[in-house]
Parts: sequence; C-alpha cells; structure tokens
Amino acid sequence: MSDVTAIAHPNFALIKYWGKTDSINNFPAMSSISITIDTLYSTAKVSFDSSLKKDLWVLNDTEQESLGQIEPTINYLKSFKAVKDPCVIKSINNFPTAAGLASSASGVASIVIAINEFFNLNLSEKELVDAAILGSGSAPRSLYPGFVHLNKKDYSCETILDTNEWPLKIIICQTSSDKKLVSSREGMRISKLTSSYYEAWVNDQDNDINKALKAIKTKDFDLLGEVSEDNCKKMHKVMETSQPPLIYRNLTTHLCIQKIKEMKFIGIGIFYTIDAGPQVKIICKAKHADQVISEMKSIPNIQDIIEVNLGQGARLINEG
Ligand code: DP6
Repeated sequence: MSDVTAIAHPNFALIKYWGKTDSINNFPAMSSISITIDTLYSTAKVSFDSSLKKDLWVLNDTEQESLGQIEPTINYLKSFKAVKDPCVIKSINNFPTAAGLASSASGVASIVIAINEFFNLNLSEKELVDAAILGSGSAPRSLYPGFVHLNKKDYSCETILDTNEWPLKIIICQTSSDKKLVSSREGMRISKLTSSYYEAWVNDQDNDINKALKAIKTKDFDLLGEVSEDNCKKMHKVMETSQPPLIYRNLTTHLCIQKIKEMKFIGIGIFYTIDAGPQVKIICKAKHADQVISEMKSIPNIQDIIEVNLGQGARLINEG
C-alpha cells in the first residue's frame, strides 16, 4: 500500500476553549469559534513499516519516544478496521511547534485525514471530529475552512462562513518561538482546579458564542472584535488567576496590545486574540493590512510578522 499525505492549517479561536468536562475523552467544557488560516501548515505522511514493533511518530524529522497526545486518535482510527500492522506517521510543521500557534490542531487534523484515507476508513464527518477531539480539543476546527463553530452540545463542527465569504486578513506577530512552559492540557487542568473565575468563564461562554455567531453571520466586524477581545481577556484572567499563575504573555505581547489600542484610537478597524502563548494575532480588513504591518514592525523585539488569509480545511495532498 503506498503512503498517503494530508495537510491542515492551524486555527485561531476567537471564542476560546479552555477547560474540559472529561479528560479521558478530552471533551471541551465549552463550545468554541475559530478561524482556519492559510500559509502555516502541518503535513502528515502515513505508511506501513514492517520493521517496527509498534506505531512510530516522527515530528519535524525527530523520532518521538511515544505517540503521546496523538495515541488516542490513532487507536480510535485503527479500531475501525482492527489494524494491527505498525505504521509510521511523519509530521512536519512549517512554523514553531507548541509556541501558541495551534500546531497541535493542524498536526492532529492532518493525521486524521491521512489515516482515514490510508486505511480506507471512509469515516463520517462526525467520526472524523471525534477522532480529532481525542488528540486535541481544538483540532476538529482545523478540519474545516473559514469561520468554524465547534458545538459542545453534540461535539459537532461546521463552517459558519467559508474562506472567501468574508476575506479578512490575519497578521501574526510572533514575539517568541520558545516552547510554552505549561502545555494547554496541563494549564486547563490547573485552571479548572484552582481559578475562582473558572466557573463564571464556563457559564458565560454561550453568550459569547451567540454574539460571535451573530457577528459572523451579519459580517459585523466591530461586534466580532468586541466579543473576541472580551473572550480572550476572560480566558487570560482565568489563566493568570490559576495557582500557579499561568502567564503566557510576555513584555512584547503587551507592547503589541498597546500599539493595537493606539491604532484603534485613530480609527483603524482591528482586533486581536492571544492563545496559550505570547503571539498576538491581529484581525483586520484587507485595506488596513499594510498599515498594521508597518506599525507592528516598529515594536522592539518582534521576531516575525506573518500576514495570512482565511484558509481551507484539512485535505489530502499528492506529494509526488
Ligand atoms: C488557548 O486544543 O491545544 O488555544 O485539547 O488539551 O490538546 P488539548 O488543548 P488545545 O487547547 C487550545 C487552547 C487555546 C484556545 C483554543 O484554541 O480554543
């Protein structure tokens, strides 16, 4: 059987997932809404290797000691056809791994699509989403293009607006490429146990989801910006009031936020979001992108500024 390769892009949550109801099945405690981007990507190539005793994961050319976070996804997918033969999964990220740029979402989504094809599983959308959640609660969103809603009611996922229906720009301000000290998974566990804001955060989420759904469906940029920034600030409050405090933002992150406030003040339509890492993702209309980039370049210690668009869902590629 010849190998199969799939590609998936990271997604950035506008209404975020931070907390689980169930750590065994990795079920998010809340719905979330994200944008899938283009340009940054993960690829996953799956093949059989009869010399192996068990499945092997090679990430960015480095053999991993174990399948780690992707093991439940692989086991779930293999169970459909009771596959026993060991396979090797080679993942590549063309951007920093575990630095708050959603590499686990694109990584897991690419693996799900590649394995589904490799073993000829023909899984339903729901089964693909279930497989992705087992690897990472944000991963199902990378299966889909554009603005994406992951609904906790039945853990279904769908595109709200497709890539070209509202072509906003995303400017990624990379302030560090260091790996995060506390993984999202561990951070969520700590926050649930220790932050006194956790319960309010979970209970308020449906309001934010409904506002964001309305804003996206009516293409109301200001409303989307307002609810997204508010949701992001609430998540970081939960993180920072955890014990030990989870501080993902660095000094340059704060300088970026200050610059964004100044740009808003002079009437530039812009908003930001920040995940479990120090990178700042700015969302703006295409006509403002050049000005935003040149303003952000003036911030000391910015490592990189990457302009991207909304992107496609996970798909097979022919590496030929
Ligand atoms: C801050 O999906 O990486 O990016 O399910 O434990 O793998 P696990 O966590 P993960 O967490 C994402 C957290 C976030 C917000 C979001 O993307 O919704």
